[in-house]
Amino acid sequence: MRAPALFVAGTDTGVGKTWVATSLCRALAARGLRVGVFKPAETGCADPDRPADALALLEAAGSAEPLDAVCPYRLAEPLAPAVAARRQGVRIEPELLAERFAVLRERHDVVLCEGAGGLLVPLAAGLLSADWVEAQGLPVLLVARVGLGTINHTLLSARCLGARGIALLGTILSAAAPPASVAEATNPEVLADYPEVRLLGVAAHGKEVPESIVDVVWARLATAAGP
Ligand SMILES: Nc1ncnc2c1ncn2[C@@H]1O[C@H](COP(=O)(O)OP(=O)(O)OP(=O)(O)O)[C@@H](O)[C@H]1O
Ligand SMILES: [Mg+2]
Repeated sequence: MRAPALFVAGTDTGVGKTWVATSLCRALAARGLRVGVFKPAETGCADPDRPADALALLEAAGSAEPLDAVCPYRLAEPLAPAVAARRQGVRIEPELLAERFAVLRERHDVVLCEGAGGLLVPLAAGLLSADWVEAQGLPVLLVARVGLGTINHTLLSARCLGARGIALLGTILSAAAPPASVAEATNPEVLADYPEVRLLGVAAHGKEVPESIVDVVWARLATAAGP
């Protein structure tokens, strides 16, 4: 049985993908599900044995999978995966990613995959992250910053998904810092007016993703078109 899976995409790097994904992992694991996690490539790893995102995802999911299964490519420089890999003499193989991901989907009830940066970040030679997501037939959960700049990034990302026919489960705005500007107060209501964004709500600063949002993500994942 192949478990349902979703791809946690960001509108940018540092927007809260890991924050939201780890919160979702905890919530789903608390419901008794075997939660698998995947981070196809992690860059900026000072120590390849300590990739911060992959380790955070593993801990949140309560998963004992080995690092090589969960994060096959751990690269030193804080660059797009394809660039960091090229400069390090590593070749990122999309087929290997697909195989590792498929194994995780066999072994769990649900698998969350965290992307690197945004949707159009080069993942491997000639392959953008969105290309891999499309090839895998994965639905996307979009994470965006709550503050200034998010309207443009969020609409661009949502419309990019729409143009490619990739299912968008919803968008969560993550508050990496305490509210400090009018933008943070007004952005949610502005984005709620754009149906293509499918705004689910806000992960408030320092807070878990609300259970009501977890419910919607889980329900939509169950019905999302996928392989
Ligand atoms: N809702 C939130 N509450 C508190 N801190 C948050 C929240 N969202 C994000 N952060 C913090 O903001 C920083 C960036 O978030 P995070 O690491 O989740 O981003 P990311 O999109 O996964 O980045 P990357 O592209 O490096 O994978 C982290 O220090 C994280 O703890
Ligand atoms: Mg991250």
